[in-house]
Amino acid sequence: MSNPNLVIDSKQFRNALGAFATGVTIVTTRDAEGADVGLTASSFNSVSLEPPMILWSLAKTSGSLSAFMTGDHFAVHVLAADQQALSDRFSKRGIDKFAGLELERGPGQVPLLGDCAARFKCKTSFRYEGGDHIIFVGEVIEFDHSAHPPLAFHGGKYAKVHPRALENPLDVEDVNSSFNKDYLGFLLGVASMQLYQPVRNDWQQMGLSECGYYVLSVLAAGKHKTQGQIEELLKPSGHRLDDEELGRLLETELVTVHGDGPDRQFDLTPRGHEYAVKLFVQAKSVEQKAIAGLDWDDLALLKNLLKKVIRNTRS
Ligand SMILES: Cc1cc2nc3c(=O)[nH]c(=O)nc-3n(C[C@H](O)[C@H](O)[C@H](O)COP(=O)(O)O)c2cc1C
Repeated sequence: MSNPNLVIDSKQFRNALGAFATGVTIVTTRDAEGADVGLTASSFNSVSLEPPMILWSLAKTSGSLSAFMTGDHFAVHVLAADQQALSDRFSKRGIDKFAGLELERGPGQVPLLGDCAARFKCKTSFRYEGGDHIIFVGEVIEFDHSAHPPLAFHGGKYAKVHPRALENPLDVEDVNSSFNKDYLGFLLGVASMQLYQPVRNDWQQMGLSECGYYVLSVLAAGKHKTQGQIEELLKPSGHRLDDEELGRLLETELVTVHGDGPDRQFDLTPRGHEYAVKLFVQAKSVEQKAIAGLDWDDLALLKNLLKKVIRNTRS
């Protein structure tokens, strides 16, 4: 019996439920006319091992309700991390959700989707009233699973599952160092050194110092910079720009100066601009190599974490 005195803010209740991280599934069946039916559901859970049983719940307002109420079978597809588009598609109403999909058939001719993290083909065992939902309990007749990482859902957003720690820390070879291989500074240092090596080789051959290279980058990003402005922009690199360094840069004819005194402004020459573009293209191609095997989420996470490290270590 529900408590009539208990007033629940449904938004707060949803938010609290969202604290429970789940996977994302698509549950499919066939209706009485033989049409394929399915929807995205995160209410999936395990029930019993012997016999193998699972459950999920369906809103009574769902357009798929009658098909699941009459159908003897259904299939639960645990989605893989790269199947978010499929989840979006099956959470919409009034569209042909199966259009263009390659389907297999399971028990009771239910449609089966491919490339999932796991699939459970079930016979409907029980249906229970659960407030504004119907709870379906199914006995698993067949199942399969793959090595695809799963799609997750948390706090109303899609998420990815990240293991808490690397089981096998990276083995960085050929580095004779007293630092532990997991020391953050060591890892950042090796990554940065390897990432910049090809670009570094190039500007060294051009006769540039590291400071000169950074000045070039600063001037490629913005025109007409005074010495003071360049110095300010150089700060994160740890370099200081003195007159000697500036003199050497001007000799390379990659940089030019207009005016006199502290207000004189520096710019790239056409040759300097061409060279900066060349370095940029080279740096981008090295970056592509460096991020091989990382998807968009991994990369965004990596960049965010590095930004935090930079913030935390700023003096
Ligand atoms: C991540 C996610 C999880 C969902 N979980 C459920 C669920 O467990 N049960 C449910 O009835 N609807 C759930 N929905 C909403 C349905 O997918 C959505 O209402 C869909 O339009 C229903 O389709 P239908 O009306 O064609 O049956 C979920 C949606 C999303 C995006």
